[in-house]
Amino acid sequence: MDVSQAIRMKRAVREFTDDPIPEQLLTAVVNAGRRAQSAKNRQAWHFIIAQDREVLVELSQLGQFAKQLAGAAAAIVILTPDPAERWSIMFDAGQAAAYMQLAAWELGIGSCPVSIYEPDRARELLGFPPKFHVRAVLSLGYPKDPSSLTASPHAGGRKTLSEVISYDRWGS
Ligand SMILES: Cc1cc2nc3c(=O)[nH]c(=O)nc-3n(C[C@H](O)[C@H](O)[C@H](O)COP(=O)(O)O)c2cc1C
Repeated sequence: MDVSQAIRMKRAVREFTDDPIPEQLLTAVVNAGRRAQSAKNRQAWHFIIAQDREVLVELSQLGQFAKQLAGAAAAIVILTPDPAERWSIMFDAGQAAAYMQLAAWELGIGSCPVSIYEPDRARELLGFPPKFHVRAVLSLGYPKDPSSLTASPHAGGRKTLSEVISYDRWGS
């Protein structure tokens, strides 16, 4: 595996087998998030690893597109300060999430970011302190379809380079 291959091939995986993820692999994934850069090196995040089936099922009810969490082997709940405090908070969280997804991919573990629409219910469920907030969770597990980790990028799956790049000035 090299970094560019991982970036090219990692797809959102939403269907998982029942196999648990060994503890040391889960730790390795979170460790990759811990190593992410952050504005002013604040590292103002905290990660809750959820594996309890009841907790996963409850989490799956806290977002409109969160159902996959009910069948995940684990979830990593990404806690941050209030995102309204500064723009960099979700930028930092996004980078930690991306690092964790790439580390998971390298270990053969599928993942997908899941948006939390009901953060207050998440707080009740997980009991984290007021200074933390949650907007995103990663679902994790061994993919039901193993080829989903290594399948070629699907046509039209990403905008083309010319659609997203300008040189020196907008549109040129
Ligand atoms: C900030 C963010 C929030 C997302 N929220 C959800 C979500 O709530 N449910 C879901 O199934 N996928 C969610 N996704 C996954 C995206 O739909 C997925 O990354 C995108 O469609 C690209 O998929 P691909 O990498 O397989 O091409 C989210 C992704 C990001 C970056």
